[in-house]
Formats: sequence, structure tokens, C-alpha cells
Amino acid sequence: MRIYKWLDRRLNLKPVERTLLDEPIPGGASWIYVFGSATLFLFLLQAVTGMFLAIYYAPTPDHAYDSIQFIEEQVTFGAFVRGLHHWGASGMVVAIGLHMLQTFLYGAYKSPREVMWMVGVVLFLIVMAFAFTGYLLPWDQTAYWATQIGLNMVGTVPLVGEFLMKVMRGGELLGALTLSRFFAVHVLFLPAILVTLIAAHLFILRRVGPAGPWTDERASLGRETFYPRQVYMDAVVMLAVFAVLASLALLVPFPLTDKANPSDTSFVPVPEWYFLFYYELLKYVHGPLEPLATWVLPMVVVLGLFFWPFIDRNPVRNPIKRPAALVSGLLFLLVVFSLLGLSIRNLYAVPRVDPALARGQALYQQFGCIGCHRIHGEGGAVGPELSYVGDGRPDREWHLKHFRDPQSVSPGSFMPKFPLDDKQVNDLTSYMLSLKRTPS
Ligand code: HEC
Repeated sequence: MRIYKWLDRRLNLKPVERTLLDEPIPGGASWIYVFGSATLFLFLLQAVTGMFLAIYYAPTPDHAYDSIQFIEEQVTFGAFVRGLHHWGASGMVVAIGLHMLQTFLYGAYKSPREVMWMVGVVLFLIVMAFAFTGYLLPWDQTAYWATQIGLNMVGTVPLVGEFLMKVMRGGELLGALTLSRFFAVHVLFLPAILVTLIAAHLFILRRVGPAGPWTDERASLGRETFYPRQVYMDAVVMLAVFAVLASLALLVPFPLTDKANPSDTSFVPVPEWYFLFYYELLKYVHGPLEPLATWVLPMVVVLGLFFWPFIDRNPVRNPIKRPAALVSGLLFLLVVFSLLGLSIRNLYAVPRVDPALARGQALYQQFGCIGCHRIHGEGGAVGPELSYVGDGRPDREWHLKHFRDPQSVSPGSFMPKFPLDDKQVNDLTSYMLSLKRTPS
């Protein structure tokens, strides 16, 4: 207290305290108002975890993947911090989505808070840009190919698309320049813009004040200041958010896929869950209609959201008395969640890769089979090509015998007899049999 008084005499803290804590909330504190501060909290968490990740992360194609692996495996709390950052990004999308939904339902974007809403929509887009640029950084197969798809979509925008795509990519190919500029945008440009816009968002909030309940009767029910009850509610929610993210970070690992391989065009990336609905939509539009999904529709939605306060000019805020706005909002959510549901169902319908195949593939690397055999253009030509060995004459029995002792089935073979145990022989055989022209 004495320190506070001492500081107060020098810094004149009372007015600051008044702006920060004594802001009146029409109708009183409420759990429904917590989403904005939850979003803010998540942003701070992303900033702090991001700073720690940046200590070890190296934004070059040669080192990015290994540096993430190092963070996962060697750095104390590395996996935990990366987990927090990964799940925090998802949390951010959820929190900002709920925040916008609440603002929409309460009609809080209406006059005089139009500018606050518009800044909010831009903040939402910035968060999406964070997600997009952050996704490339691990430089694994998913990162590489998902970004490729994203960039190609930018390329479909007429007139400026080609140019924009090149600027984002930093050249003709997705490579070192792309990675370093995505990194710079992710850790320098976007945070600077975000902080500025958050400041603007909060500044406006302090100028016009919170919207409060949608009717005057409810608003007049009570007026209390931000401190203490709203501060308490916000703090409880932040703690809960952190607890959920920490459990996810500890319990749900987020493994890297293989290191990015630009020549493996067969890789099918799966985007983050919050882009899945859109990914699903893209599957249904082809040919001349494609631009509709890749840029017309997103642009209409974004512009519609941005100018929404001027489209919906009805001054009434009670959602029940605004059926048109309510129905359009619900319809939008229905479409998004149906697409998301469909996408998840389709993803689960894809047969899971047999783990034996992955183990077999790893053994193939480990024992240097590639020195003598070629698979899809890679490897030596001393032994037969194995790209489609699963279609060939040898069956499971043959392979098992062959791996145990090549000479026993191929007299005179100079393929070495490898020190393999039964499980390894089985895994390698499964892998060999999976190498087919049309994978089953
Ligand atoms: C020193 C070179 C060499 C290495 C290393 C080698 N192979 Fe071979 N492999 C051969 C030769 C030569 C043949 C053909 C004769 C035979 O069938 O044994 C062959 C045959 C095969 C065949 C049968 C192909 C067919 O179509 O009949 C398979 C399957 C195979 N190798 C798998 C492997 C795997 C898996 C490894 C690694 C664990 C491996 N090879 C390592 C030389 C090698």
C-alpha cells in the first residue's frame, strides 16, 4: 500500500484505475460478456508461447522441421509449450467466434458501435492470417501441401491473384523464401497490426461503453462497475481456458508428419478443423464454378460481415424482434457446421493406414534397401524395382521366406540376409505387398 501511494504520487494512477476498473456496465456484470477478454487472454498466451518457440525455431527449409522436432523431443517443456501454442490457436478461433456470435445476437454492432464491429471483423481476419502463416512453419508434408493449396486459391482471384500469389510465395516456387516471409509476417507484421487493432478496439469500447442488455428495462436493472464482479468472472474464464489448453497440450499430442517433400505430389493434406468446412465446400465446386468457392464466396462473406451494421439498419436489438437477422445468422452457422460434419465424416471414412506399413517403411530406410532398390524413381538399380512389387508374382509366403533367407527362394541372389526378427519380417512384407499400382 505504501509503495502504491509512493508510486501514485509520482505517476498519478487514480485516473488510470478509473478507466481500467470503474467502467460502468449497463445491466451489471454477466458471464455472457467474457468472450472478449477470453480472446485477449488467448492472444497473450499465443504471444508468450510464440516467443519461447522462436528461441529454438529456425525458419529455413533445412532446419525448420528439425528445430520443431528438437523442441518436441529435447527442450524442457518444449512439447508442452508447442502444444499450448497449437491448441491456443484453435482456442482463439473458438473464442473469437463466440465473441462475434454474442455481439451479433445482442445486436451490439448497431449504432453507435459500428466502427468497433468493423475493427473486430478485421481482427478476425488477422487471426485467420496468423493461422495460415503459422501452419507452414513446421515445414512438414501437411504444412507444405496445405499452404500450396491456399496459395493456389489466392491465384484464382482475377487480375491481382497471380501477383498476390507470387508476393506471398516470394517467387515461382514454394520454398525457402516463402518460409522466411511467412515467418516474418507471423512473428513481426501480424502481431504489430493485431496489437494496434486491439488497442483501437478497446479504445472505442472505452469511448462508447459496452452495449449491455438489448432492452432499456434490463439495462436499467442495475449498473455496476467493471471491477470487481466482471473482473472476477473474466479471471475465472481465463483460468478455465488455460486449464483446458494445458490438458490438451499434455494429453493430445500433435505429431509432425514427414518432412516437407516438394516432389511428393501425391500427398493429400488435411487442414486444421476450422478450415475443414471450407475444404469440404471446395470438393463440391469444380470447373467454371470453382472461382465461386475459391474467392467470390469468401469475399462476399467477408464484405458482408464487415458492412453488416449498415446492412442491418434496424435499431431494435432484441434478437426475437429481428427474425431476418436471426435466421440469416442461424442459416450461416447451419451451413458451416453441416459442411464441417460432412468433412469429419468423410475423413473418418478414409481407411486408417495400417501401422505395420509405416513400420515397414521405416525398416526399409533403416536397412538401406534403397541402396539396391528403386521405388518411384528413388534408389539404386542393383536389385529389381519395387514400386509395384505388390502387384507381382511373390505372395506373402514368398516374401517372408525371402526376407529370412533370400537364397532359399532366389538361388544365387546376392541380396543380403538381414538380421530381422519375426515382427520386422512381417512389417516389411506388409509394406512390400502395399506397393501397388492401385492401392487397396
Ligand atoms: C545389396 C543389394 C540389395 C539390398 C541392400 C537389398 N536387396 Fe532386395 N534384392 C536384391 C537383389 C539382387 C534381388 C533379386 C534377387 C532376389 O530375389 O533375391 C532382390 C530382391 C528383392 C525382392 C524381390 C523382388 C521381386 O520382384 O522379386 C524384394 C521384395 C526385396 N529385394 C526387398 C528388399 C528389402 C525390403 C531390402 C531391405 C531390407 C532389400 N531388398 C535390400 C538386392 C538387394
